[in-house]
Amino acid sequence: MEKYVLITGASSGLGKETAKKLAKEGFKVFAGVRKEEDKLTLEALNHNITAIFLDVTEEQSLNSAAEEIAKTTDTLFALVNNAGIAIGGPVEYIPVDLLKKQFDVNVFGAIQCAQKFLPFLKKSDDARIVNISSMASYGIFPFVSPYCVSKKSLDMFFNFLLIEAKLKNLKIISIKPGVVATPIWEKSVNFCEQNLEHLCEEGKKKYKKEFEFLMKNARSNTDKGLKPQDIADTVYKALCAKRPKQSYNVGKDSYFARFVSLLPQGVTNFCIKTALSKRIKNL
Ligand SMILES: NC(=O)c1ccc[n+]([C@@H]2O[C@H](COP(=O)([O-])OP(=O)(O)OC[C@H]3O[C@@H](n4cnc5c(N)ncnc54)[C@H](OP(=O)(O)O)[C@@H]3O)[C@@H](O)[C@H]2O)c1
Repeated sequence: MEKYVLITGASSGLGKETAKKLAKEGFKVFAGVRKEEDKLTLEALNHNITAIFLDVTEEQSLNSAAEEIAKTTDTLFALVNNAGIAIGGPVEYIPVDLLKKQFDVNVFGAIQCAQKFLPFLKKSDDARIVNISSMASYGIFPFVSPYCVSKKSLDMFFNFLLIEAKLKNLKIISIKPGVVATPIWEKSVNFCEQNLEHLCEEGKKKYKKEFEFLMKNARSNTDKGLKPQDIADTVYKALCAKRPKQSYNVGKDSYFARFVSLLPQGVTNFCIKTALSKRIKNL
């Protein structure tokens, strides 16, 4: 029997690799994109991929995507909530509009997708929602708090869904990668540069060094860390496992972040502050 999977944000990075991997393994993949050129590229990769237009923040787009899928099937085996953006900035001055933007995509977008596609998932005997969370959900990266908090909230909302909905056929899985070389880093540098423009003079002055560190770090992450394939393999593993774990760490840095977050908050904060000031000093 065909197994249909919907992946959001499949135009690049982890989403694209996951679409490729699952299609190669025989899943029928609906790959969410926002541009015509991405639709053409993805569909050329594998005949098991059907690209559909899906902006997770737009209700109209969600409705159209559901209608599009319903033309082929009324049953989804899995929803992979992958679409995401990363916004940084100091809590003291970051414009609230940017916080809303961060949550619109990473949190509310994923919840809206779950609400829209649960009727499809409920028709499967053994359905799964896989959320691409992050090691950032452990909340140990200052100046990227909007992103960290969005991932923590994502995990928490879906854990409540699991408890409340009591759907015997549904497993909810959180994948928490460490740094992965994808375009998200370059995009977040661009966001950051725009943020700087919006910060008041006092903010720019006070956090100048931290911003320099943040940009340098983000730029260096574009070509280091895990490969997108590592995450695609983990999604595949979570979809194939009879009893998947509720949470998968991917990468040593992700395990390390989990460990640091388990320490008493005062000790965790001491570690974070010491590491940050050391790295800023070495700029
Ligand atoms: N890279 C890492 O180090 C890392 C680590 C841990 C977790 N993650 C998570 O992995 C996921 C994928 O990120 P990535 O690293 O692969 O970055 P990426 O290459 O920038 O991919 C992000 C994807 O999200 C899509 N997207 C953004 N806003 C959207 C919206 N409103 N509606 C629908 N799609 C939207 C983008 O589509 P467009 O091309 O149309 O903008 C793109 O396909 C994210 O949730 C991210 O937080 C990444």
